[in-house]
Amino acid sequence: MRDLSEVQRLPDLTDGIVRLRAPRENDRADTLRALNDETSARFLYRVPYPYASEDFDAWVETCATAWSEKRDAHWNIVAARDDAYLGGASLMIAEDRAAGELGYQVAPWARGRGVAAHAARLVRDWGLDDLGLERLEIHADADNIGSQRVALALGMRHEGLCRGYLTARGARRDYTLLAMKASDPRRPYVPLPVPDLSDGFVVVRPLCPDDAPAVAAACQDPLIQERCYLVPSPYTLADAEEFIAEARRTLVRGTAAQCAICAAADGELLGTINFVSHPEPETAETGYWVKREARGRGVAAAALRLVMAYAFNQVGIERLELMTETPNDVSQRLAQQVGFRREGLARAFLASRGERDRDLVDPAHGRIDQVLFALLRPEWEAARRG
Ligand SMILES: CC(C)(COP(=O)(O)OP(=O)(O)OC[C@H]1O[C@@H](n2cnc3c(N)ncnc32)[C@H](O)[C@@H]1OP(=O)(O)O)[C@@H](O)C(=O)NCCC(=O)NCCS
Repeated sequence: MRDLSEVQRLPDLTDGIVRLRAPRENDRADTLRALNDETSARFLYRVPYPYASEDFDAWVETCATAWSEKRDAHWNIVAARDDAYLGGASLMIAEDRAAGELGYQVAPWARGRGVAAHAARLVRDWGLDDLGLERLEIHADADNIGSQRVALALGMRHEGLCRGYLTARGARRDYTLLAMKASDPRRPYVPLPVPDLSDGFVVVRPLCPDDAPAVAAACQDPLIQERCYLVPSPYTLADAEEFIAEARRTLVRGTAAQCAICAAADGELLGTINFVSHPEPETAETGYWVKREARGRGVAAAALRLVMAYAFNQVGIERLELMTETPNDVSQRLAQQVGFRREGLARAFLASRGERDRDLVDPAHGRIDQVLFALLRPEWEAARRG
């Protein structure tokens, strides 16, 4: 790593699209507007909220002195073309381990057009190439999907979940650590392709927060509560919101894609289907439910076929599993209809959830058996050819 005392002044950094430079007086009004935004307040725990004019003065002072005193680099992000304010970026250096932590915020009116990714790439390259850092990190709230996507776009990977990592705005929050080594490829890292699937009849796409009321309504059905092990009973809107929040966390981490099944014609939510990566390489599991009003029309079969193609073509797995409870003959017929083979009975596979599982529990061991189905890549390919 380079001797930081050689770097007397922070450089301006630009890629012709964005420019990173010291804040100026004429950034004041835009900075106040940008940082009084709820999303920024939720995810920038170090930034005061509400954000006042004096906070801007303190920020200008910090930017001027931090590099010399604390080895922290802070810039404002502006448009290279016309110097319009777009946000802020920083690199906090842990000199003792030759590592740096990136931070960024983009003004609400400038989000969704690559500003964070452009700015963060400039900071990444300056940190690795000019300062000779060995490692870069981003610490993001586990629910900050946008920030985690920016980190992945830089080439970072999820390294772990830091549970109860800090208190932000009065609540203890889980954080996720993303990082890259200097030798890692500087190209976007894709932990799991985002499903965007359709056959003209149904659409399978990631669940989003607006789906919560439809998911909650569908999960009032006692059959869904009985047959889907992870569906709580009774089921509330808060359960649906937490289910969707977790689905978004697992998708960005690349461990599972929990999707909505929607009617292609009008987007109505008909059910859900998931794809869960197993720890064993190249194997995964799927599971689904279809709401009562949409059953008997081939919705689950269509969604399952789309997920099978996603699993074998896009993700590139070799074996896809599906498990059902022993009395669930509808689901078992469906699995076989789309090409899965029954492999056997996984005895005492699940713990009993109490009274609601009275009819499912095997008295011999007091737990729930599961029927295991699997589909292998050669079988899937042969069925498609035939
Ligand atoms: C997170 C934040 C910096 C993203 O800024 P941005 O300029 O909109 O991000 P970009 O346009 O560069 O997006 C880069 C990638 O992230 C994805 N992304 C950005 N925001 C997203 C969101 N809210 N949900 C899902 N994906 C998102 C983009 O689609 C893009 O992915 P792609 O390359 O696969 O297309 C911005 O939302 C923000 O300032 N939030 C508040 C402050 C904050 O959270 N800072 C980070 C603290 S760790």
